[in-house]
Amino acid sequence: MAVIGLVGAQWGDEGKGKLIDILAEKADIVVRAQGGDNAGHTVVIGNETYKLHLIPSGIFYKNKFNFIAAGTVINPQSLLNEMDNLVKRGISIDRLKIDSRAHVIFPFHKKIDELSETAKGQLSIGTTKKGIGPCYMDKTERAGLRICDIISPNFKEKLAAVLALKNDIIVKIYNDRPLDLDEIYNEYLGYAKRLAPFVADVSSLIYDAIKQKKEILFEGAQGTLLDLDMGTYPYVTSSHPTAGGFTTGAGIGPTLIDQVIGVSKSYTTRVGMGPFPTELDDEVGKFIQVNGNEVGTTTGRIRRCGWLDLVILKYAARVNGLTQLVINKLDTLSSLKSLKVCIAYELDGKEIKDFPPDLADLKRCKPIYKDLKGWDEDLTKLTDYKDLPKAVKDYVEFIEKEVEVRVSMVGVGQKREQNLIR
Ligand code: GDP
Ligand code: IMO
Ligand code: MG
Repeated sequence: MAVIGLVGAQWGDEGKGKLIDILAEKADIVVRAQGGDNAGHTVVIGNETYKLHLIPSGIFYKNKFNFIAAGTVINPQSLLNEMDNLVKRGISIDRLKIDSRAHVIFPFHKKIDELSETAKGQLSIGTTKKGIGPCYMDKTERAGLRICDIISPNFKEKLAAVLALKNDIIVKIYNDRPLDLDEIYNEYLGYAKRLAPFVADVSSLIYDAIKQKKEILFEGAQGTLLDLDMGTYPYVTSSHPTAGGFTTGAGIGPTLIDQVIGVSKSYTTRVGMGPFPTELDDEVGKFIQVNGNEVGTTTGRIRRCGWLDLVILKYAARVNGLTQLVINKLDTLSSLKSLKVCIAYELDGKEIKDFPPDLADLKRCKPIYKDLKGWDEDLTKLTDYKDLPKAVKDYVEFIEKEVEVRVSMVGVGQKREQNLIR
């Protein structure tokens, strides 16, 4: 196994949580390196369903370490809720570590996220309103507060300086009520005390573990097309969900990552705004949404659904350097007579196969489809890839041939055992 990164190959919610939980069995450490509680990762173990936002999905094994690295943004209240809920359900969090460099999400970040989305009106991004963008903005402005700041003796002075600037924005730009320093300080002091025992230099711990030949698994959050640089800007998140995010976010060199696995659904979904060439606004789209239970894990919003887009998967293979691909949710497509897979776009009368960098071009792209045979069989009880109906195998092989990345696993249900190794 060695050092493996797992990234979402689409717009998020590809089933990363499920796969991390499965792959973590063979890992020593699972690491989240970017994003925050905008992520929602579902893990189903037996009859229990867990929804994780910031804690890595390797947490369900007693003997594994789970790290939240420097590139993440941490809402302490949300993280502590997650920790408490796991403990209540009998899951140990003793081996959780948080990098002291990770930036902290404050109530003013959430407030500004909400106010800015409202002010944008038609141009809103459809964020999760978790304060992710405003927190990363403070980070890049070099004005943010990190975990090391909230556990430091002069936390209040640092907070006062930042809050004064934020209140200016809230009051003068958005005409809203200022937030109270003492209230935030007292609340966050309590969080800081509780989080302090978990704080560590995660970058250094990972490096030592790699030197000792430990198996490390990086858990991507969001997906390739939500990447701040490589995604459908501005309809993206504010971090780097592509493979490069593992190295900058966790503080390890790119030469130390051996494999990058991309995860895709057997179709495409998106939450929030922004172009989506293969989106289906018909009964097939509705079928996928209902049958796939496509409802956002974090915000409860209905996910937009459409056909599988291989232009996107090829792009994901390129920008992440994918060495393997996983196709989840093949079971969801059962009973559709025929399936469409987008193999290229038509842009201004020309056929293109590369995902266009400019959103204005993407908006004009029309998908060019290949029709493939559907299947009727229920796939959810199968335990061996060999037993899949021919039409399913043909579907998988077609994807593999077009994307030029080996499909190593497929998903036929939410549970651990509903993952078939090819
Ligand atoms: P993540 O954000 O990438 O971890 O994905 P989410 O958890 O937000 O959404 C994926 C949803 O699909 C979850 O409800 C998973 O339990 C579910 N899921 C994952 N793989 C499969 C699969 O192969 N079949 C079905 N039916 N559901 C799956
Ligand atoms: P997981 O890890 C799907 C989307 C939001 C919005 C855009 C920006 O579960 O795959 P943000 O709050 O990050 O500023 O919102 O990104 N988004 C996700 N969509 N899955 C996610 O995470 C997402 N995290 C953010 O819906 O369109
Ligand atoms: Mg999700």
